[in-house]
Amino acid sequence: MINVFGSKVGKEEIEQITDSISKQWMGMGPKTKAFEAQMAERLSTDKFVLVDSGSNGLYMALTLLNLPAGSEVIVPSFTWVSCAQVVMLAGCVPVFCDVDLDTQNVTADLIKPHITEKTSAIMIVHYAGLAVDMDPIMELGYPVIEDACHAIDSTYKGRACGTIADVGVYSFDAVKNLSMGEGGGVVSNHKEALERASILRYCGIGKSGFEASTHGRERWWEYNIVEPFIKMNPSDIAAGIGLAQLGKLDDMQAYRKKIWDIYQEEFAEIDWIKCPVEASEGDKHSYFTYFMRVPRRDELAKYLFEKEIYTTLRYHPLHLNPIYKSDKVLPNSNELNETGINIPLHPSLSMNDVDKIVEEIKEFGKQL
Ligand SMILES: Cc1ncc(COP(=O)(O)O)c(C=O)c1O
Repeated sequence: MINVFGSKVGKEEIEQITDSISKQWMGMGPKTKAFEAQMAERLSTDKFVLVDSGSNGLYMALTLLNLPAGSEVIVPSFTWVSCAQVVMLAGCVPVFCDVDLDTQNVTADLIKPHITEKTSAIMIVHYAGLAVDMDPIMELGYPVIEDACHAIDSTYKGRACGTIADVGVYSFDAVKNLSMGEGGGVVSNHKEALERASILRYCGIGKSGFEASTHGRERWWEYNIVEPFIKMNPSDIAAGIGLAQLGKLDDMQAYRKKIWDIYQEEFAEIDWIKCPVEASEGDKHSYFTYFMRVPRRDELAKYLFEKEIYTTLRYHPLHLNPIYKSDKVLPNSNELNETGINIPLHPSLSMNDVDKIVEEIKEFGKQL
């Protein structure tokens, strides 16, 4: 089966893991620090805080904004469940907004109708790594969380996605452009917020063991708990895999782009396929996934599955999920739910796989 998502790991990652194990240092440590420094440099930001998942990073982001309990956070419906779950867990209410049909991204105009006197923040998602038009959203005047989980390599008007709004969050789960099995990252334009993040991620203690207690004290086993918080610090095993992945990220991105370009070229003339939008002039895409809109989507998915090509829909719109009791009517998200399909795009695909995917999709089109 050709998988829809995937990563590319090999000897460099194994070397990093072996190194951690041979040094008997698997927990958070030097590799975490090194990864954070390299990421901060790559994103041109002062500080990068590594955590154990993008979902937890989003929860951290909400915490850093100090949102009043019961206030509303506007979230796109067309996104991963964590985006809404963390809002609920933070004691706020997710209010779903629609996305643009062509970009699958939120816009200021789509957000505006959902603003009420209870709105305390806005969460946006750079879908597939296509940058959201951030300026008009920042002008709305609310704290903004940038979910850059798809957008590790994306830029908007020359700035790295994730570093534009109040808090930005990345994901390094098993299928992301940079994978460490599980992992996430938090950046912020507020320096104190990031200092707080590095304390919070380790049960609100921040520093571990000896480091936490030796400042002018005799009893180094004592620690000072700063705030109530859960544990979401990374392991050095994960950070080491991340370091190996960072070393090959540009090559993996180039390979993703190559596949993307083939799809864009092959499908451009096919009238029943609506291809994804390219990044605006000067912006950079991350090519996390290739999302297209088609008629008879369910039939195409089943046809490809029978040909050993796995596809999916990211995402089943959240406002349709009864748990959130949403009364929102979001026609674009509903339409994407019926016509959207993500086809395989990842660095472990072979060119033969890509040819087969293109051929089978064209073959399916003959029945339409
Ligand atoms: C848009 C988006 N936000 C958040 C997350 C959560 O990231 P993680 O899987 O690292 O918890 C994901 C992961 O798929 C995602 O795609």
